[in-house]
Amino acid sequence: MIVRNAIAGIGIYLPDRVMPNMELADMVDTSDVWIKERTGISQRHIAAEGQTTSDLGYRAALAALDDAGLEPSDIDLIVCATSTPDLTFPATATIIQERLGIHHGAAFDLQAVCSGFLYGVNVTDALLKAGGPKRALLIGAETFSRILDWEDRGTCVLFGDGAGAVVIERSDDAESDAPGILHSYIRSDGRYRDMLYVDGGPSQTQTVGHLRMQGNAVFKHAVTEIAQVMRDCAEQAGVPIEDIDWFVPHQANQRILQAVAKKLKIDPDTVISTVAMHANTSSASVPLAMHQAIQDGRIERGDMVMLEAFGGGFTWGAALLRY
Ligand code: UT7
Repeated sequence: MIVRNAIAGIGIYLPDRVMPNMELADMVDTSDVWIKERTGISQRHIAAEGQTTSDLGYRAALAALDDAGLEPSDIDLIVCATSTPDLTFPATATIIQERLGIHHGAAFDLQAVCSGFLYGVNVTDALLKAGGPKRALLIGAETFSRILDWEDRGTCVLFGDGAGAVVIERSDDAESDAPGILHSYIRSDGRYRDMLYVDGGPSQTQTVGHLRMQGNAVFKHAVTEIAQVMRDCAEQAGVPIEDIDWFVPHQANQRILQAVAKKLKIDPDTVISTVAMHANTSSASVPLAMHQAIQDGRIERGDMVMLEAFGGGFTWGAALLRY
């Protein structure tokens, strides 16, 4: 018997407000040209005043349920990957659970910064395979606009708000070529935690803090580790990289996407990019990009897809699935 967990539905939510690069040029010493040339970003969405991470995650979850043709009552696990929770506790996942009217099963948050969705795929896949829950909502939701230093041009131009969600469903009698998560592989190395961090938190400062990053150093590590984890994940799954139809990367910088594709000799046309429209939405960026490529007809049912991400910690990871 093959147990395989497949993506039954996907949904997203982006706040209405769009902030183009030009608006940032009025706030800090930057320009539309610099941001586009160095990152590929043209605009980002910003949550309205009072709009929280759970608001975005809830709407993405509803859209994913609708896409799967399921009701909230069908879900018995909610995993919310976020580094910008509504509150220190309770978990944003439980707030979303309550708003969905789900009173059974379990809900918890997972914090692996920009790799949160990939960590979520790994953990959700394992929990479903272990035989407890049957259908999970995996949500990546962020309001990074709340932890940016809007006077630091090195970081405030890079991030945006948004949410993406998938319904992951267990199938106990799947065929070997059935849709499903084939393999996932997650990594971290805390030696590099000072290169990308938030300078506040309940225990150390009793404040929320602001995002700090050594951009250039992060860039170099990101390219090396992403390429390696993609190679490792494919090898562990026994699938040659050439057999993968689409690559859905974390959307931090277009130049990172290009450098990784070059390193792995991947056709750049198979790498999904939404960084221009969304900027870096941390744990939401992979489902946002995947949703875009499904909507525009590139990713189709049966395609082999690799997801990957890299973020603070450092954390990183990759997952291979048949959609
Ligand atoms: O999601 C988690 C993972 N995050 C990432 O992967 C982000 C990785 N890092 C990056 O994407 C890039 O390093 C950045 C986009 C952050 C920066 O690009 P860069 O080409 O590495 O630039 P740099 O940091 O080496 O800075 C080059 C110059 C500096 O000026 P000087 O010292 O050469 O005079 C910066 O002060 O660009 C300056 N600069 C800016 N100029 C205009 C930095 N930010 C800006 C800006 N506008 N917004």
